[in-house]
Amino acid sequence: MNSFSEKYSRIKTGFEQYLYDFTDSFDYYAPLSEAMKYSLNAGGKRLRPVIMIASAQMLGLDSSRVMPLAATIECIHTYSLIHDDLPCMDDDSLRRGKPTSHVVFGEDMAMLAGDGLLNLAMETALKSIEKDNCENYLKAVELLFESSGPLGMVGGQAIDVKNTGSFQTFEELKNMHSKKTGALFLASCLCPALILGCNSDIISRLYSYAENLGLLFQIKDDILDVTGDVQSMGKSIGKDAAEGKSTFISLMGVAESTLYAGKIADEARKALSYFGDKGEFLSELIQYILERKN
Ligand code: IPE
Ligand code: IPE
Ligand code: MG
Ligand code: MG
Ligand code: MG
Repeated sequence: MNSFSEKYSRIKTGFEQYLYDFTDSFDYYAPLSEAMKYSLNAGGKRLRPVIMIASAQMLGLDSSRVMPLAATIECIHTYSLIHDDLPCMDDDSLRRGKPTSHVVFGEDMAMLAGDGLLNLAMETALKSIEKDNCENYLKAVELLFESSGPLGMVGGQAIDVKNTGSFQTFEELKNMHSKKTGALFLASCLCPALILGCNSDIISRLYSYAENLGLLFQIKDDILDVTGDVQSMGKSIGKDAAEGKSTFISLMGVAESTLYAGKIADEARKALSYFGDKGEFLSELIQYILERKN
């Protein structure tokens, strides 16, 4: 294992310990607790929490001060996946290597597990606010929910469903990807800087890094829907084309999308160079996303 994967797995393990304690404390109506836990504990790369924690470490903020917000973002991300997989959206039966929530618990409970996670996310974020740093924390929480709401992820998902079966230009696709996926990456990366009250130079470099990283991540997701395999992905492949989704692949094919992904990766690297050696892990994360197989 190289040092990047070791560091990734150290951060991920630390986060998952926190997350398992968090889910152990669920004490809701049992079928609802079970459905919420099922998806949250199913695994996944935990990429958004890893980015948030790594960004905190890079900026000198102790990880413990972002753990609740990292759990918040994983709750939001997980709810978005449960809803994304519903028959009325992408109609997928496999997620994180397991049957999807609606397959196991029924559509009604899958809907409610998603609603539960979203509301729990808000509760967790608000409870995490440090009284003596209230103003900065509120800026972070505001960014988180702006990124996950109609201006961000939910807005992007709406563009996605409304454009299934139709053509989107390059700029339209970029806009959709930035919203449906990029926005949560942005929040993950920027929350620590907002908590610390970092200056505008730092914010704008992180902004550029995260925006490009999120776009890169979704372009790669589109590519993997063609080139990936079910076993390593833990989710179905070939669905985008089958459903007539408007993706980078439908616009420019795998080869050109891969070239474009490389350009976006360079942009992300450029933005991060500002942080020098301290940005090493987040910089290596770009290559990890570019080369990922799951
Ligand atoms: C899947 O996200 C949804 C997209 C934004 C493409 P991830 O690939 O990060 O899913 P998990 O969390 O690892 O399962
Ligand atoms: C979904 O994009 C992004 C979300 C906000 C959930 P996809 O529909 O491409 O994600 P996968 O491929 O099902 O993971
Ligand atoms: Mg989708
Ligand atoms: Mg989907
Ligand atoms: Mg996809």
